[in-house]
Amino acid sequence: MNPRLSLLQPYPFEKLAALFQGTKAAAKSPILWSIGEPKHEAPAFVHEIINKELSGLSNYPLTAGLSELREAIADWLSRRFCLKRADLDRDKHVLPVNGTREALFAFCQFIVDARKGDALVLMPNPFYQIYEGAAFLADAEPWYMNLNHENLPDFDAVPEEIWKRCQLIYISSPGNPSGAVISSAEMQKLIRLSDQFDFAIASDECYSEIYPDESKPPCGLLQAAAEMGRTDFKNCVVFHSLSKRSSLPGMRSGFVAGDAELIKNFKLYRTYHGCAMSPPFQKASVAAWQDEVHVVRNRDLYRQKFELVIQKLKGELDLEQPGGAFYLWPKTPFSDTEFARLLFNEQNLTVLPGSYLSREFQGSNPGKNRVRMALVAPLSECADGAERLKEFLVSAKERAK
Ligand SMILES: Cc1ncc(COP(=O)(O)O)c(C=O)c1O
Repeated sequence: MNPRLSLLQPYPFEKLAALFQGTKAAAKSPILWSIGEPKHEAPAFVHEIINKELSGLSNYPLTAGLSELREAIADWLSRRFCLKRADLDRDKHVLPVNGTREALFAFCQFIVDARKGDALVLMPNPFYQIYEGAAFLADAEPWYMNLNHENLPDFDAVPEEIWKRCQLIYISSPGNPSGAVISSAEMQKLIRLSDQFDFAIASDECYSEIYPDESKPPCGLLQAAAEMGRTDFKNCVVFHSLSKRSSLPGMRSGFVAGDAELIKNFKLYRTYHGCAMSPPFQKASVAAWQDEVHVVRNRDLYRQKFELVIQKLKGELDLEQPGGAFYLWPKTPFSDTEFARLLFNEQNLTVLPGSYLSREFQGSNPGKNRVRMALVAPLSECADGAERLKEFLVSAKERAK
């Protein structure tokens, strides 16, 4: 067996199950704010197309996917990120994948050259856990960028000797868990660094379609590159998904796009990996990337939940509307693990301790004493959760007196 498997930490939800072991939940209906699994209804047309296209199960899908899917993706990318359509070639710049999770992992295996023995993969801290596991299993070492007080990575704080060893950097915007959005200027800074030190940038943009202000969609890496006058997207690859945008986490549909040389070789890698998307899902994905009506409706539902929960907890917990995604990421008045355990015990409301999503690095742990709360449940359940959280905070305050 690969000895580096022992470097993988238990997944945060396993840590949570261990934390709750022996703790009895209050006799109330369970409310899960822990898992970031979208719960809104999927668009009906997706179900209809899948049903209609079931005969496609009789065909092996191609790694490159259907040309109509790559076309729909290239169209969407250019509309959404203000790219010139002519600068995107569906056959050179776009590759469908089975959701971003597997692609984020596979991309690291494909890109890292571990022969020198000093390869680094940079990632934010806290981070989506796949980045770290991918680095370990690619024979690289993770290097964590502790997020600053705005929950953003500070590229200026990374020493030159680290950039020299960097082969891949993951960024996440809007980020999980904080929802913070990286500006175009910061992305451009990173692109200039990648020119200087020659590393690939994997920009995880799976939350890009969940944002509060219709007039301010988060910027993407390809957009930042285009704003610099680049059309080759050198070293830049973005990861997008229908899981959050269209509330279709079970369909496993996403894509990677960017640098044609990287996409060409990633496709070669994936040919052997054997992970092409099922044909009925490809057909349904075409329609999902072509439609924005359901996405606007989806955003509106999240907006209502953020407003309600933040309003209900005013004065009890410092909650800020994030720039994107569907999480709240507040500081806790005492240890994050104890907070999560007691909240489960007293209110049967489950949140995720921030320290399960981060690592102690350079003397600090930026996830410590925070919790992640995923507002994925229906509005009424979120309202109930906010009431329970308020009751919990009030009684915790009383106890502390
Ligand atoms: C930051 C981030 N990236 C990627 C993913 C994976 O999403 P999917 O594989 O459904 O596209 C998630 C899922 O929660 C996530 O939070």
